[in-house]
Amino acid sequence: MSALIEARGLSRSFSINTGMFKPRRTLHAVNGVDLTVARGEVLGIVGESGCGKSTLARMLLGLIAPTSGNMVLEGQDITTMSRRDMARRVQPVFQDPYSSLNPRRSIASIVSLPLEVHGVPNPKQEKAIAMLERVGLPARLADNTPGQLSGGQRQRVAIARALVMNPEIVICDEPTSALDVSVQAQIMNLLMALRREFNLTYVFISHNLAVVEHIATHVAVMYLGRVVESGVTAELFRNPRHPYTQALLASVLTPETGLGIPDMGLGLSFPDPVNPPSGCPFHPRCKDAMPHCSTVRPPLVKRDDGLIACHLYPAEERTLPS
Ligand SMILES: Nc1ncnc2c1ncn2[C@@H]1O[C@H](COP(=O)(O)OP(=O)(O)O)[C@@H](O)[C@H]1O
Ligand SMILES: [Mg+2]
Repeated sequence: MSALIEARGLSRSFSINTGMFKPRRTLHAVNGVDLTVARGEVLGIVGESGCGKSTLARMLLGLIAPTSGNMVLEGQDITTMSRRDMARRVQPVFQDPYSSLNPRRSIASIVSLPLEVHGVPNPKQEKAIAMLERVGLPARLADNTPGQLSGGQRQRVAIARALVMNPEIVICDEPTSALDVSVQAQIMNLLMALRREFNLTYVFISHNLAVVEHIATHVAVMYLGRVVESGVTAELFRNPRHPYTQALLASVLTPETGLGIPDMGLGLSFPDPVNPPSGCPFHPRCKDAMPHCSTVRPPLVKRDDGLIACHLYPAEERTLPS
């Protein structure tokens, strides 16, 4: 199956201020990520807060440029595509629908705006209202503003706006994290139904592993800007290999609700991303660390049906015929 989305060495760094009279430092938010997503797949991206998920999402959406590396959509480098062509094919659903919806516009005009921007012929209003109904919002809400809706309803508006142009790819960045638990399941079910109905390909970012296990066909685990393990969802959840993935999965049952990030139970806080640990960046927190883990960074290598970057799993030795 050929790739719909292909990211090669995608990296993004930020120059940040570390204090008055101190030199600016470089923070590698995303550091050489390779991803392949086939049409119809749902790639879940998981990892603690600060590991680079949203920065990766913004690059996949073409909202920020990579510092290096590139992203290819069905063979075409996105840097050669106009913002408009990109928006027709790739649309976002963000965590906080309130800040991404104009509070002064009516729901109908928010959803029909993309049709206007892209010069879709009339009737725009009818298309917008049909999409609102499809995402489970009654047409009578069309003249309301976002402030008059509940969080779940606002997220439905954001989904309707994302889908009204018939995109192929939807990048969901923590789409249910700001919602009540009861509403989260409804939005998840809606996203899954829409995927089938519109033949969508999703990149689905979440710190909530249960949600990812439910929706994703494939999973990539990120740590400090890099993918450390990836594979088919069922296999990765059944048999996590990277010690970080194991810790992440073990943390599902003890989420630190206040922070919205898993309690890793590893006794050490998340390292300073401006000054990441040497060797394998996970080694200071790793229960299985070996001496060379602090000096040599393990490459991401193929392992069964997935990829892993860990010295416990060296690149598969080729068995030569004797
Ligand atoms: N515009 C920015 N300027 C400086 N640092 C940033 C910026 N955006 C993100 N970062 C930093 O990049 C790292 C990754 O952030 P982010 O992609 O938001 O992670 P996640 O979505 O996984 O929580 C964090 O250390 C964050 O502070
Ligand atoms: Mg984020």
